[in-house]
Amino acid sequence: MEFSIRAAAPQSVKTGCLVLGVFHAAGAGAPELTRAAAAADRAARGRLAAVLAQGDLSGKTGRTLLLHGVAGVAAERVLLVGLGTQKEFGERAYLDALRAAAGTLRELGARDAAVYLTDVKVGRRAPAWNVRHAALALRDAFYRFDQLKSKKNDAAPRLASVTLGFVGASVPEAAREAVREAAATADGVALARTLGNLPPNICTPSYLADEARKLARQIPKLRVEVLERRDMERLRMGAMLSVTRGSHQPPKLIVLRYAGGAKGKAPIVLVGKGITFDTGGISLKPAGEMDEMKFDMSGAGSVLGALRALAGMKAPVNVVGIVPACENMPGGAASRPGDVVTTMSGQTVEILNTDAEGRLILCDALTYAERLKPDAVVDIATLTGACVIALGHVVAGLFANDARLADQLRDAGDEAWDRVWPMPLLEDYQEQLRSNFADMANIGGRPAGSVTAACYLSRFAKKLRWAHLDIAGVAYKSGRDKGSTGRPVPLLVRFALARAGR
Ligand code: BES
Ligand code: MN
Ligand code: ZN
Repeated sequence: MEFSIRAAAPQSVKTGCLVLGVFHAAGAGAPELTRAAAAADRAARGRLAAVLAQGDLSGKTGRTLLLHGVAGVAAERVLLVGLGTQKEFGERAYLDALRAAAGTLRELGARDAAVYLTDVKVGRRAPAWNVRHAALALRDAFYRFDQLKSKKNDAAPRLASVTLGFVGASVPEAAREAVREAAATADGVALARTLGNLPPNICTPSYLADEARKLARQIPKLRVEVLERRDMERLRMGAMLSVTRGSHQPPKLIVLRYAGGAKGKAPIVLVGKGITFDTGGISLKPAGEMDEMKFDMSGAGSVLGALRALAGMKAPVNVVGIVPACENMPGGAASRPGDVVTTMSGQTVEILNTDAEGRLILCDALTYAERLKPDAVVDIATLTGACVIALGHVVAGLFANDARLADQLRDAGDEAWDRVWPMPLLEDYQEQLRSNFADMANIGGRPAGSVTAACYLSRFAKKLRWAHLDIAGVAYKSGRDKGSTGRPVPLLVRFALARAGR
């Protein structure tokens, strides 16, 4: 899908489908036309207003109405999209309208479209923000994962080119920049979604490593290094090695470096949990929905996706992705509850539950991150079911040992509508991790499960400016729409760009 930006009168754009916004009337009246819709209506001698006066479209957020052969308008079809009332119109309504438009365009099968929703002012947001979200929403709606179906849906919708329209005489340069940025971000989101959706017999630790190598081959300034089991042994990553013991798949520690910023500038390090399947190990999970534990590498997917996006758009940043990848399986060689292991940091851990494996691979990856002399470290993990209970599927849990870093992540999440919410990382919770037999246990009991998991990680981040995102509730959807969301790639990209002053 190609995007272009144009400042042009909507009625003059030759396209398969012209998408225009209309506001819902506060009272009983007909919907109110946006600037773009009004221009098209004048060219069509009032045809749009006349149709709306008949009450065919309420203008409520996300409602759509398709018109064919509107005289005076160059487009083959006109799609009117409800934006809700002017008074209540804001970011959420704008995004809902974009999603509705994208959904209709997909059903339509149009090959090209001109979307003028971008011309509507959204609160205090600049046109670049409108453009970014329009491109991402469209790419997201047209994402397909059918590579494992024997009969491809050959009627697969192909929206090849999209014009993002502005009525005014000129387009702000920042908006053009935003389109390039959004296209690369969408590539990153798509990569994260596909890696998440791939089944665990295909998307193994080795597959993730190959995928990272492929990115490094294809994109300039991206270098990869893959550490093998023997390297982890040499580094004394006892916690990481304890998780992989029950698996026949070799573990990998992927280090993907993107050097787009000034030479010698300390990098941002992103650490992604890469459990390609989480059975729970000897502390075996119940059978119901266990298939969803293929998504337990979503943190890893988001790190590879973010690097692909940043490198793809040639962002002026230095970012390193670290992905500890392995499987958590039961078996004769698997770790037992009660095992004590020595982490790379030298601290010892009593593994009271082998299903709390994410923190075991992340703690060694965090210690490894110290070697990169990072400016800041953010880990991203589907870490706890407790986080889903606390926050549901709306926001990810945000934990940090640095208030400024936490604020920056929260701001990036708000701007990208890939939101996070601060959770407490207080000393008082640490005692739940006490062990009679080692420096700490790997679980802290039922109360505040996502907090004690973060507290555990914080013991390995003392030398770092560090934040942790628990994405267990936002990385994927269950049920009929089961699949990876690609979150939090948009947040990570925004965060990295903001830190570079973009
Ligand atoms: N991968 C899971 C967390 C998870 C659960 C993600 C549900 C998405 C949906 C993690 O490895 C895990 O099993 N955590 C345990 C920790 C417990 C044993 C302290 C959990 O949340 O139950
Ligand atoms: Mn687990
Ligand atoms: Zn897990």
